[in-house]
Amino acid sequence: MKHYRIAVIPGDGIGKEVVPVALDVLQHTAEVFGDVTFNFTEFPWGCDFYQKYGMMMEEDGIEQLDKFDAILLGAVGDPRLVPDHISLWGLLIKIRRSMDQSLNIRPAKYFEGLASPLTAPKEFDIMVVRENSEGEYSEVGGRIHRGADEVAIQNAVFTRKATERAMRYGFQLASQRKGKLTSATKSNGIVHSMPFWDSVFDEVREEFPEIKANQNHIDALAAFFVSKPQEFDVIVASNLFGDILTDIGGAIMGSIGIAPAANLNITGEHPSMFEPVHGSAPDIYGKGIANPIGQIWTAKMMLDHLGEVNMGASLLQAIEETTAAGVKTSDIGGQASTKEVGKEINKRIKVLS
Ligand code: NAI
Ligand code: MG
Repeated sequence: MKHYRIAVIPGDGIGKEVVPVALDVLQHTAEVFGDVTFNFTEFPWGCDFYQKYGMMMEEDGIEQLDKFDAILLGAVGDPRLVPDHISLWGLLIKIRRSMDQSLNIRPAKYFEGLASPLTAPKEFDIMVVRENSEGEYSEVGGRIHRGADEVAIQNAVFTRKATERAMRYGFQLASQRKGKLTSATKSNGIVHSMPFWDSVFDEVREEFPEIKANQNHIDALAAFFVSKPQEFDVIVASNLFGDILTDIGGAIMGSIGIAPAANLNITGEHPSMFEPVHGSAPDIYGKGIANPIGQIWTAKMMLDHLGEVNMGASLLQAIEETTAAGVKTSDIGGQASTKEVGKEINKRIKVLS
């Protein structure tokens, strides 16, 4: 029997609706498989907590989280209560950075029964490895003067360590999948960091001669995500390029409510954090209609990371069978509630032979 201690942060808005459903599915999956138990510890951090205590998480929050095997997070943000830059940097980004969650892994996959806007959706199954610690999202730079003379400088930071780490992880992932890797570049326009990115790509690909590797400029790649997504397997991208590509990934799947993500600490020194791509959706919060698939698929990524790949595979299959059966929330063209989708997924969890 294996025991996992999971820190759970439902956060704000629909995070509070989809996280309980995902926990229920995880609990049920553990019972069906019978060789694993989960111990969930919930933390009430988020914008309500900020209203009461003036901070997004407890002072020693990071130390508390450090004791767990993994962190499952819903969504953070309630712009009516707390400005977004305070809520996101005070909780989500604080955890990502303090726990050295250096890679952000986001799949995009075609499911039967999903309302993909592509007129002829071909079966696509892509994994984007997004560098999560530096790149274009850096705090280096500043602003000087005001008015007509104003100048803003924002520096992108690319280190050999982080670039190699992302590339190597991507190649390893490709070797466990379809054996294809695409590097997202823009070395025709960005003349320092992207040629560096390309040279690290060329070095690391030497270590993986069996992988079919190529590179595309990000603008072309964005178009290919729409015109021929079925041709990709693993994509390695910088922080900004990966962020944009994975939103397109969510869109071609049919709804942002489906897309999952993992923030990985690849050394194992600190726990990794699993969270859907979507936010707290204040426009639908409280109606019980949020799509729980993004959160449940996120839980599947957590299972894979913990080494419970059979449970993870069963979960994904149950999700696919549920959408194929037409049990869907309104964002993907159905009428089911958040809880109904969770119950239907539970019914389809089984030990795969
Ligand atoms: P959002 O992802 O919350 O919502 C965008 C649109 O997608 C809305 O129309 C919403 O109803 C819909 N949507 C999102 N998730 C859905 C689901 N599971 N089922 C059905 N429909 C869904 O993005 P928005 O509105 O820009 O941000 C709202 C708040 O969330 C802000 O405070 C923002 O900063 C925060 N946010 C937090 C993120 C995180 O915690 N990782 C990521 C993105 C936004
Ligand atoms: Mg984004």
